[in-house]
Amino acid sequence: MPFVRNQWYVAAYSAEVGRSLLARTILGEPLVLYRTTAGQPAALADRCVHRHFPLSESQLQGDTIVCGYHGFTYGADGRCVAVPGQRRIPRTARVGAYPVAEQDSLVWVWIGDAGRADPGLIPRAPWLADDRYATVRGMEPLAARYELLVDNLLDLSHETYLHGGYIGTPEVADTPITTEVDEEAGVVRVSRRMDDAACPPFYAQSTGITGRIVRWQDIEYHPPCLYLLHSRVAPAGVLPRPDGTDPGGFHVEVVYAITPSTATASYDFWAVARDFALGDEEVSAFLHDSNRTVVLQDVTALNTLERVVAANPPGVQELSINIDTGGLAARRMLARMAAQADAAQAGTAEAQAGTAGAGAGLPGAPASLAPAAR
Ligand code: FES
Ligand SMILES: [Fe+2]
Repeated sequence: MPFVRNQWYVAAYSAEVGRSLLARTILGEPLVLYRTTAGQPAALADRCVHRHFPLSESQLQGDTIVCGYHGFTYGADGRCVAVPGQRRIPRTARVGAYPVAEQDSLVWVWIGDAGRADPGLIPRAPWLADDRYATVRGMEPLAARYELLVDNLLDLSHETYLHGGYIGTPEVADTPITTEVDEEAGVVRVSRRMDDAACPPFYAQSTGITGRIVRWQDIEYHPPCLYLLHSRVAPAGVLPRPDGTDPGGFHVEVVYAITPSTATASYDFWAVARDFALGDEEVSAFLHDSNRTVVLQDVTALNTLERVVAANPPGVQELSINIDTGGLAARRMLARMAAQADAAQAGTAEAQAGTAGAGAGLPGAPASLAPAAR
C-alpha cells in the first residue's frame, strides 16, 4: 500500500524535541526537529541545499541551524539567512519547512501539501497530558512496513499467542469481536468484551486484582496514525453504574502512533495511561517494562514478517477470517485516503501547470515539466 500523504503524523514526543537536533524520516522524507528559543517546535528538511549535508548533524544557534559542512545557515522557516564567503544569498537557498503542531504531549508533522494542513484535523489522545492519569511511554523503531503494525494492533487475538504471560490469556482469542466502520468520521472501531476472564500479569500486578475479571478492549483507529485502545478491567461481575460512573473499574488508555518511516520501516510510539495508582512509581516501572517487552515481542514478529512479505511472489494470497474484519476495514480506509491524497496532488499539479502554462503551448505536458510544478 502506498503512503497516505496530506495527513498529520506523530514525529516525536514533546519531551524529545528540545534544544538539540533530532532526525526522523517520515514517509520517506528526512526531517530535522528542534525547538526554537520561544519554545515552538520546528521541522525542516534534513538536507542542506548546498551539498545535502544532514542538518541534524549540524549546529543549532539560537533559532537557526548552521550547516556542519560549510556553514549555510537556515531559519526556522527554512529560509537561508547566511552563506559563507559572500553577502548575496541565492534566492532559491531554502529548505522545506513542515507544518508542526503540538497536542497531547505529541509533536505532529504534516506530510504533503502544506496549504492543506489544518491542526483541527489532528485526532486527540488527551490522557497523555492529563494529571488525572499516570503515563508511561516509549518508541521502538520497526524494520517493517507500517501496514503490518496496523494489522497487528487491530487484531488483538494475537495477545493470546504472542504475549502470553504478559497481556494474553485464552479468553482474548476465544471471544468474538464486533467491528464498526465510521466512514464519515474516518474511524474503525473494534470491540472485544470478556465477561469472565483470567487476569493477565499486566493487570493483576498493576491493579492488585487477584481473581477473574471483566475485561473490555475497545479499539478506535484513526487512520493513518493514531490508535487508541480503551481498556477496562474490573473484578468479575463489577460493571459501570447505570449513570456511567465506574468507581469499580480500572481504566487504561493505550495509545499507539503508527508513523511510516520508509517503505519498510516504521516508528512504533506507545503509551500506557492509567487512572489508578497515580503516584506509584513501582506500578509505573512495572507497566513501562511490561509494555515495552510486549511491544518488542511485536517488533520481533513484525520484523520477521516483513522479510517474509518482501520475499513473497507477486499475487500471493492471504486467508482472512472474522478476527481480521477490523484490519481489513483499516486497509480499505487507508487505500482510499492514499488515492484521495494522490488525486488532490495531481489536481494541484494540474492547476499549477494550467496557470503557468497558459499560452505556453504545453497542453498535456507532464506536470513535472511545467515551470510552476518544479
Ligand atoms: S553542505 Fe551545507 S553548507 Fe555545504
Ligand atoms: Fe501485540
